Amino acid sequence: ESAVLGDRFGRVAADLRVSVTDRCNLRCTYCMPAEGLDWMPRPEMLTDDEMVRVIGLFVDLGVRQVRFTGGEPLLRRSLVDVVRRVGQLPNAPRMAMTTNGIGLDRLAQPLADAGLHRVNVSLDTVSPERFKVLTRRDRFHDVERGLKAAADAGLAPVKVNAVAMHSDVESPADLLAWCLDRGYQLRFIEQMPLDAQHSWDRSTMMTGAQLRTAIEERFTLTDLPAEARGSAPAEEFLVDGGPETVGLIASVSAPFCAACDRVRLTADGQVRNCLFARDEGDLRAQLRSGASDEQLTEVIRSTMWAKAAGHGIDLPGFVQPQRPMSAIGG
Ligand code: GTP
Ligand code: 5AD
Ligand code: SF4
Repeated sequence: ESAVLGDRFGRVAADLRVSVTDRCNLRCTYCMPAEGLDWMPRPEMLTDDEMVRVIGLFVDLGVRQVRFTGGEPLLRRSLVDVVRRVGQLPNAPRMAMTTNGIGLDRLAQPLADAGLHRVNVSLDTVSPERFKVLTRRDRFHDVERGLKAAADAGLAPVKVNAVAMHSDVESPADLLAWCLDRGYQLRFIEQMPLDAQHSWDRSTMMTGAQLRTAIEERFTLTDLPAEARGSAPAEEFLVDGGPETVGLIASVSAPFCAACDRVRLTADGQVRNCLFARDEGDLRAQLRSGASDEQLTEVIRSTMWAKAAGHGIDLPGFVQPQRPMSAIGG
């Protein structure tokens, strides 16, 4: 059997995104309501052993990079152990994490020691006041310290992800200036219809083109050759001639679905072939009924084979998935 995880459109999954918890210590307004969500019951979450076993199967199927996500991944107490164990697998993958940065001041070095290679930190504003409004928590300085600790621990390059909305009072250029000063690679993200409240509205989202115009009020952007992008969701631009760059992740206005190489594992053990998938492959049920590696691999393969051509946000009859972003992992 081939060690390649393909779909019927010829795409091959090489990048596994593992959500290790759906819990979060922020309440970003574009993600979830102030009161939070009904978190997954613990017994429904994969144990470390189950998670590491499944990740090993994905690696045997050709996955080359594992990205840990959440919710907020640092809230899983065993995260450092999981990272260490994945780093000890045969053909160990590259390991990255997408985090809101809270707790990274303490955990960056242990994670680096356990084998984590790099981190992307979500930060939408550099105003502590605005941060408090957007995330409903007064923790800007925690994130600031987390970013610094990540850089000090050599988790390089440190990237910053910012979801951009028209309601932001700050200019995107302010955030870019802040990141350039500190050596972080900034990428702006178009907001997608994945919020728990189902209140996404295209008109509040800033498009990649609008972001570019706003950034160009203060900086000169130069396109990088298209072939440099590969399967990366971000289109990168040189800032003021480089070498620094800024990225635009225009998932809605310029989908990169045709080049997608991603597959996802949720904290409750479901395989998702797309952020927007409506069907999942139930690995947890199989795991807990004593399935063999071959049987689990078959669930993974058949779920991937069923992957749709694209997210279909612009197609008539589009329905947002039931599972919110915080329970999928970004
Ligand atoms: P790098 O390897 O560092 O470029 O990571 P990444 O950009 O793939 O990962 P990250 O978790 O930082 O993702 C940034 C944003 O890209 C996410 O918050 C999503 O908005 C978007 N994104 C990631 N994966 C997908 C995907 O499969 N489909 C779509 N439409 N958007 C995605
Ligand atoms: N659309 C795009 N990105 C989102 N994120 C959270 N919700 C959305 C959404 N609806 C981002 C976070 C973080 C990453 C994990 O996903 O800000 O950068
Ligand atoms: Fe937490 Fe990320 Fe959702 Fe913000 S966007 S509430 S950090 S899961």
